[in-house]
Amino acid sequence: MQNVFAGKKIVIGVTGSIAAFKVAGWVSDLAKEEALVSVVMTASATKFVAPLTFAALSGNDVHTEMFSAVREDTMAHISLGRDADVVLIAPATANTIAKLAGGFADDLLTTTILATRSKVLVCPAMNSRMYSHPSTRQNIARLKKLGYAVIDPDSGMMACKEEGEGRLPEWDEVKEYLAQSLSPQDLQGQQVLVTAGPTREPLDPARFLSNRSSGKMGYALARSAFRRGGEVTLISGPSTLPCPTGVNMLKVQTAKEMYNVVLEHANTNSVIIKAAAVSDYRPEKMFEHKVKKEQIDTQLILERNPDILLELGKRKKAGQVLVGFAAESQNLEQEGMKKLQNKNLDFIAVNDISGDNTGFEVESNQVLLLGTSGAVSLPYTSKLHTADLILDRVVSLLVEQAGKTEHN
Ligand code: CTP
Repeated sequence: MQNVFAGKKIVIGVTGSIAAFKVAGWVSDLAKEEALVSVVMTASATKFVAPLTFAALSGNDVHTEMFSAVREDTMAHISLGRDADVVLIAPATANTIAKLAGGFADDLLTTTILATRSKVLVCPAMNSRMYSHPSTRQNIARLKKLGYAVIDPDSGMMACKEEGEGRLPEWDEVKEYLAQSLSPQDLQGQQVLVTAGPTREPLDPARFLSNRSSGKMGYALARSAFRRGGEVTLISGPSTLPCPTGVNMLKVQTAKEMYNVVLEHANTNSVIIKAAAVSDYRPEKMFEHKVKKEQIDTQLILERNPDILLELGKRKKAGQVLVGFAAESQNLEQEGMKKLQNKNLDFIAVNDISGDNTGFEVESNQVLLLGTSGAVSLPYTSKLHTADLILDRVVSLLVEQAGKTEHN
């Protein structure tokens, strides 16, 4: 599943809020992702943004009229809802939310929504007083009960110059929820633990030992696992990447901290993927103040960090899937096999870090998957796609193990 949006029919309902202009950028991005976007606007939405804007950006007609004499539009309220893979209402005003909560259908958008059986995502956006009004709160609670997915608004300065909750969320976040709605939910009910990034082993307040890991591969795994319905915990060493949407992130610095946090969570997770590049050594002593030239010689004394994955392998529970990574620059298969066996893993993803476009820091990767049943070389592709291919393997192992449990 390289691009979850390509070829998908997405209906976007735009209602009358000043934030409507932001959704123009969203439509444009989805069109670039090759989604088939149909925009439905309420009458008040057309006061904020001209339908022509959405028509040009989506490359499709924009629907505004319930009773249209244009032949292809006479049944739009049924066909749009019926054919949609997902419906997104953004921005959703207090009025539209109230209508949906009450089951009203007095315009094209509300009728379309009653006619659909696809997932409907709602992005409330309004003045914070309107948002916090008990009527709106009740209506939103009712929408959730009815099965709508409501994405909480952001807080901050609003168009009315008041601060508070009610701003339309950022597109990056909404896009992940849309991606989730369009992805197979084959990790639903699974607790997935991913580690990512480097660790930092301090020498003094200014210096540390670390490595080139950016966290991109681990964050891509967390993102993909969320899209596929997993309940994801990401334990990350220092990284500049933002927390992926829908993921519970815990930040750590050192290998010892990572060891403690990972082991605390290990028992409750059915899938553990250790993509972090953990420092094998730490300076023997952490100096309280910055070390001066003459204070240490040319030799730095190090001590070993615990091997987290080795420990996880020892404690592995029946039915738990344990995946390791190996950063190698030579003898990939041989080195990977050693780690697979020593650490009692289900499989290991071996990264070739000698190339310019794979491994550390870059957006793409090429890994070799080694399991007890042999080796599979994954294609050179984006880290997000690599993550998906790794999770495909995890899902088939989970299915296999569930089959075995049923048999016993
Ligand atoms: N790992 C770990 N704890 C460590 C070192 C590594 O959990 N102290 C995990 C990594 O997260 C990765 C796997 O073990 O999933 C392999 O890491 P790698 O650094 O490639 O291998 P090492 O076992 O440290 O062996 P070496 O550095 O000698 O190649």
